[in-house]
Amino acid sequence: MCGIVGYAGDKNVIPVLIGGLQKLEYRGYDSAGVAYLDGGKMNVIKEKGKLAGLEKLVKGKCAEHTIGIGHTRWATHGEPSCANAHPHINMVGDLAIVHNGIIENYLQLKESLERKGIRFVSQTDTEVIVHLIHYYLKDDLKEAVSTAISKLKGSYALGVISERFPDEIVAVRKDSPLVVGLGKGENLIASDIPAILEYTRDVYFLNNGEIAVIKKDGVELFDEVLNPIACEPYTVEWDVSQAEKAGYPHFMIKEIEEQPRVLADTLTPRLKDGEVCFDEVGLTDDALKKIKKITIIACGTAYHASYVGKYIIERFARVPVEVEIASEFRYKNPIMNGDNFVIVVSQSGETADTIAALREAKKRGAYVMAIANVVGSTVAREADSVLYTRAGMEIAVASTKAYTTQLMCLYLFCLKLAYAKGKMAPEEYRANVSGLAAIPDKVADILGQKDLLQKFAYEHFTEKSVFYIGRGLDYALAMEGSLKLKEISYIHSEAYAAGELKHGTIALIEEGTLVVAVLTQGDLIEKALSNVKEVTARGAVVLVITQEKYKDMAKDVADKLIAIPDAADFAATMTAIIPMQIFAYYMAVQKGCDVDKPRNLAKSVTVE
Ligand code: M6R
Repeated sequence: MCGIVGYAGDKNVIPVLIGGLQKLEYRGYDSAGVAYLDGGKMNVIKEKGKLAGLEKLVKGKCAEHTIGIGHTRWATHGEPSCANAHPHINMVGDLAIVHNGIIENYLQLKESLERKGIRFVSQTDTEVIVHLIHYYLKDDLKEAVSTAISKLKGSYALGVISERFPDEIVAVRKDSPLVVGLGKGENLIASDIPAILEYTRDVYFLNNGEIAVIKKDGVELFDEVLNPIACEPYTVEWDVSQAEKAGYPHFMIKEIEEQPRVLADTLTPRLKDGEVCFDEVGLTDDALKKIKKITIIACGTAYHASYVGKYIIERFARVPVEVEIASEFRYKNPIMNGDNFVIVVSQSGETADTIAALREAKKRGAYVMAIANVVGSTVAREADSVLYTRAGMEIAVASTKAYTTQLMCLYLFCLKLAYAKGKMAPEEYRANVSGLAAIPDKVADILGQKDLLQKFAYEHFTEKSVFYIGRGLDYALAMEGSLKLKEISYIHSEAYAAGELKHGTIALIEEGTLVVAVLTQGDLIEKALSNVKEVTARGAVVLVITQEKYKDMAKDVADKLIAIPDAADFAATMTAIIPMQIFAYYMAVQKGCDVDKPRNLAKSVTVE
């Protein structure tokens, strides 16, 4: 939610800020703005709507050898508007800030500042921060920022600049991400690495409470009480090209097509002599043997991946698994203690609800393993151990490759656990491991069916409502297929356990209703077929997604059938989701939707 960028150096600061914001636009895109010093004077330019509007306003402007900050917003407090866009300035206009996060006590702070004669011009929670900093500012900007944040409750990542301190940006974070880019003769801040990769690969992930003073020639770091601290940089391995579309019309389809590679990247380094090797995670077989119950916590797509995790862990390792929505878990006074093994799943590693759930679990004594994609993210740093998905940078708001690599990690964990616990014979273990190893090539085969799915989507993009049904693992998949469709095409969609339809929802099926039936599990296919017949009998049009080996059984109920290459049934989730991702993509394209930046959404949900 919201993207922050800041630059101190000799280049024209405006294109640097705009370029950074372009890389962060996935974080929010309802308004944007920049503030920079030019000839020592503060300039602030803001525009409502996507970044393109701001780009037009700043075109041709130049401010070299200076500092600046920029922001792209996802509204929480106050509608998307120019007044509510960041940067926000103090009353005299010589101090500007950008903020990502939520200030929970802003109303009390606002009332107290108003009593001191301060006039507010926006409806945001952020504006209190700039007035507080101004109020405390004497002769050291970082001290004023430090005092101001001591009054705040909530989460924040901040970039602050002032005419009185024309060489420096002060940055601080609490529970919202902020990374410092360490360049040569130039230094930067940003909410996420892509915004600074063009300038440097050396970064420092600011920890909660730390304050950074960023100048052209160096970066100073301080702890919460302003003692200087050492900077231990991390070198980013990603390539800048990963943040480009590379000729694809959208990031989403690029990321869908990257899945064979990223699945192999996630799997291969963890296989040794046909077995799962977890040295990097630091979980020994002895530790795995002791696991008695598991709770998997996540949001959105990661929650759907967790559901697949539940089915397979319970089936193979015979350990009970609960799956929790992170935003629910944190407030339910969960029954959890040191006997619980918790897995948190998060692509970004910065989802506020997931981070809060992780902390809640740790507070209650649970061991927490993260499955995360972003190296150095909060989730990755705060968990006891991390199993990284190797999806690379995922930019489209709709998660695709992060989902399948999360599944791959959950499968690896499941097989390792089942084997360590003696619930899987050596031959079965090795056969299952090779079942996983076959998946990347099968995903590549399915991508060859893109045209079929495109055609089907173009015949159906005017649908008002689509149902996804399946049983067992197929139900877990149906949930994700349905989310993909609704989030990018704005078509109402529901996922249902196929056997549950007749208990109410089948009332919504009428002549012509589109139903996507996922039928990949041999042990359940007969039952699932009966459920499909229940909807065809009521006039539904059915798209069946099944494996080659079940094609003949399923063809009679299908108006359209997509046969994916045969895989081990337990692993077919990673293949069967691909047609659903492609179908959702083309439905949205045909409707003319902004596929990579769907309305009301942001990639990284860093607010509660
Ligand atoms: O970064 P996270 O995996 O923690 O994000 C969780 C959800 O916000 C995310 O999976 C969201 O549902 C997807 N972008 C939807 O495609």
